[in-house]
Amino acid sequence: MLSTALSGTARKYLAAGLCLVFGAAGALAQSAGPVNVEITADKTIAPVSPQLYGLMTEEINHSYDGGLYGELVRNRNFKEDAAQPVYWDLVQEGGASGAIALDSSMHLNDAIPASLKLTVTSASGRGAVGVANEGFWGIPAKADTKYQATIYAKADGFQGPLTVAIVNKDTGTVVATAQIPKIGSSWQKYEVTLTTGKTVPSGANRFVISASRPGTIWLGFVSLFPPTYANRANGNREDLMQLLADMKPAFLRFPGGNYLEGNSAPTRFNWKTTLGDISQRPGHMDDAWRYWSSDGMGLLEFLEWCEDLHMQPLLAVYAGYSLRNGANFAPGPDLQPYVDEALDEIEYVTGDASTKWGAERAKDGHPAPFSLEYVEVGNEDEFDPKKGGYEGRFDQFFDAIRAKYPQLKIIATAPVTLREADVIDEHFYRRSADEMEAHANDYDTRRRGTQKVFVGEWATRVGQPTPNWDAGMADAAWLTALERNSDLIVMASYAPLFVNVSPGAAQWQTDMIGYDANSSYGSPTYYVQRMFSTNHGDEILPISAHNVPSKEWDPPSPDRGGRGARPLRQPMTQDIPTMFFDATRDSKTGTIYVKIVNTADKEQPVHIAISGASSVDSQGKTITMSSSSPSDTNSITDPTKIAPVSANVSGLGSDFTKSVPPYSVTVLELEAK
Ligand code: AHR
Repeated sequence: MLSTALSGTARKYLAAGLCLVFGAAGALAQSAGPVNVEITADKTIAPVSPQLYGLMTEEINHSYDGGLYGELVRNRNFKEDAAQPVYWDLVQEGGASGAIALDSSMHLNDAIPASLKLTVTSASGRGAVGVANEGFWGIPAKADTKYQATIYAKADGFQGPLTVAIVNKDTGTVVATAQIPKIGSSWQKYEVTLTTGKTVPSGANRFVISASRPGTIWLGFVSLFPPTYANRANGNREDLMQLLADMKPAFLRFPGGNYLEGNSAPTRFNWKTTLGDISQRPGHMDDAWRYWSSDGMGLLEFLEWCEDLHMQPLLAVYAGYSLRNGANFAPGPDLQPYVDEALDEIEYVTGDASTKWGAERAKDGHPAPFSLEYVEVGNEDEFDPKKGGYEGRFDQFFDAIRAKYPQLKIIATAPVTLREADVIDEHFYRRSADEMEAHANDYDTRRRGTQKVFVGEWATRVGQPTPNWDAGMADAAWLTALERNSDLIVMASYAPLFVNVSPGAAQWQTDMIGYDANSSYGSPTYYVQRMFSTNHGDEILPISAHNVPSKEWDPPSPDRGGRGARPLRQPMTQDIPTMFFDATRDSKTGTIYVKIVNTADKEQPVHIAISGASSVDSQGKTITMSSSSPSDTNSITDPTKIAPVSANVSGLGSDFTKSVPPYSVTVLELEAK
């Protein structure tokens, strides 16, 4: 037993039977022989939270524009730079000549202040002048695939045709093409389909719009979509949605993160300007992550993303605090417009068509209300430099939301004392693998009250752009703790979710899923999370581990902060376990899921004794991830170097010994009655 190393609080919870006896850091000296694991099958600690495993998302690392959101054209409304048509180039072929420029005297609508003017000065025979869009680090083209182009255009001295094409940027080969036969003299929407043939999938393409006769053409808005998941109009990239669907996530926390807050209120996620026809959406500068957001992924698209993957939305509302200006809005009348904005937003999500904002949603194409259980007030408001700044703001939001929507659970992002938030959102970052493992058992001894915990952002930050296997194992250790404590931790989500791995696209090191224009992959952490979220029961079983090997760890010196400040005293070396466990059971089938993480470089025998089950089959199943080096990783070119392997195993029962490989994460499935 490890009670020698447990604090008074820990002992109290153990005595109350609320916490598992487990291999806590520093508790056990390393010794030879098997680790002894005892599982009690006729007692349950608590139900596993049905919403434990979910997703957190925001516009960072080109998560949507250049990521999940299907749009392939970059700067489709020419707003990313007021002076230049950035990401658009002039194309002149076959001796033809012309020019391109932004034209603020001719614009499609009030949301878009300028159009892209293409002047064809001379063109004859096979000559052509056009504009080429480079997309988000390339335009993808797959074999036998249809791409939908939508172009708002008008012309002077030119009647058509306009040629649209996906063209290989290295060879000039036309991969797919279509024509708009006639262009009128006033703004019109033109839609054409480009179909590829037997091409080799590639992201090395441009999207080209060209003319072979002299005249002037104005482009007001240009869009190109690949096939989308579930054929959604304005929908999402299929491969990335499939990676997410395979995780079976229970919820989606959106729209941030820092992206929710922006650097100041005008650059917050202003949901009202993300609705309706995409050609009417102004977009905004995502100054939290320093690039333009088209807002094609608007409030309704987030909700439809939830609908497509059967996730419940976890809506974070702007709470009057942005990143660069502290608590911009003091509680009281200055804050009230943002409280009203949040109430309107909840109405847009949940109201029926008889409500003002429910009717807007119906007008936007989704008459049925969405169900909503959780609303989060702000993001990481402990960074509000005004002492008590969040407390006042939270109370005002809490009172208004509770009064109008008493059924909603309200999540606070920092501790509050005057109102009882249903849930508190806790974030864990900047941790090495050792540090994550050192903290993996912290929640075992956390006091249980009525307030639940949402671990809304967490990650072992090792490996870039995506975590390596060292991080994957530490993340698995952390997940055993979340699952074991899911009476307290009702939801958890890793962050960031996505990264475009093209040069210059990322702002954050260590992100779960990587991609470029053409392909995508899950990191080792992605597969670990998928293993956990798709292989667990609905009841937490008591589990204790004895003779757990440990290693020494020197915690980093805490930073006192500030220039010239003396660092705080170096903390003492700690022993941390190299193995982590948890057990859950499916109450309907009797299957017991035992998770075993071995971060050491040696194979480890584990003796497992199960009491309280009338029988445990000798046949079962393992799902294992392992690699020969913690620095191994997955990538675009080697997407599944580290991935789960399933096997049927025998020799199991209510008392058996099973060896787990070095550097491994194992799910053991036991059929018990
Ligand atoms: O996940 C990246 C950022 O980390 C989030 O935007 C923010 O909430 C946290 O500080």
